[in-house]
Amino acid sequence: MAYEGERVRLRAIEPGDAETMFRWINDREVTRHLDLRYPTSLEWERQWASDAKQRGGYRNVTFAIERREDGLLLGTCGLHGATPEDRVVELGLNIGEKSMWGQGYGFDTLRTLLCFGFREMNLRRVYLHVMEDHPRARALYERAGFEYEGRHRESRWTRGQATALLTMSITRPEFDERYGAAEEVGDVPRR
Ligand SMILES: CC(C)(COP(=O)(O)OP(=O)(O)OC[C@H]1O[C@@H](n2cnc3c(N)ncnc32)[C@H](O)[C@@H]1OP(=O)(O)O)[C@@H](O)C(=O)NCCC(=O)NCCS
Repeated sequence: MAYEGERVRLRAIEPGDAETMFRWINDREVTRHLDLRYPTSLEWERQWASDAKQRGGYRNVTFAIERREDGLLLGTCGLHGATPEDRVVELGLNIGEKSMWGQGYGFDTLRTLLCFGFREMNLRRVYLHVMEDHPRARALYERAGFEYEGRHRESRWTRGQATALLTMSITRPEFDERYGAAEEVGDVPRR
């Protein structure tokens, strides 16, 4: 099952994605704000990609992000930790193809992923953590409707200094108010 946004498609991660993901995960510019610092081997990345079928369910869903026009693999995203009682998840997003940054793919992915979470999974709240010194991501999450709800000082150590971690979230009523009451993923109008 794939879910289409305006310009991106969210689909299952395939074993053949491993080589590209291996390149991203070992690129310090890409991983700078992802709290990843140790090297990852191609073998581990292959294992992760082929284990992806275990991450295709309610509790842990991970998608590959591809460009709709030509299928170019842009990154990965996911919703993690849902329980039927709380219906709350943590969102993760990585546009690993850094030459594609700043072109709106992050925003379209977020919109599509949120739509999937609220409309298909029936979630109540989606939250994320972002490093305070990551203006690009913060601008993106603000624009998508996430609210700041907490600051955890000195929580991450990157490039020789400590940085705070911010928690941001969006609830279902906020999502509906912002994006309208479309029926399906992909029908969500742009704000
Ligand atoms: C953060 C990330 C998801 C953004 O994706 P993207 O595709 O570049 O996002 P978009 O193009 O949709 O939007 C980025 C927004 O930030 C703005 N922006 C870009 N650089 C910026 C900067 N240095 N400071 C402030 N805003 C910036 C852009 O102008 C754009 O806003 P606009 O559409 O209103 O003009 C992407 O860079 C990424 O995946 N990076 C590596 C992994 C990562 O850090 N993930 C997030 C972890 S919390």
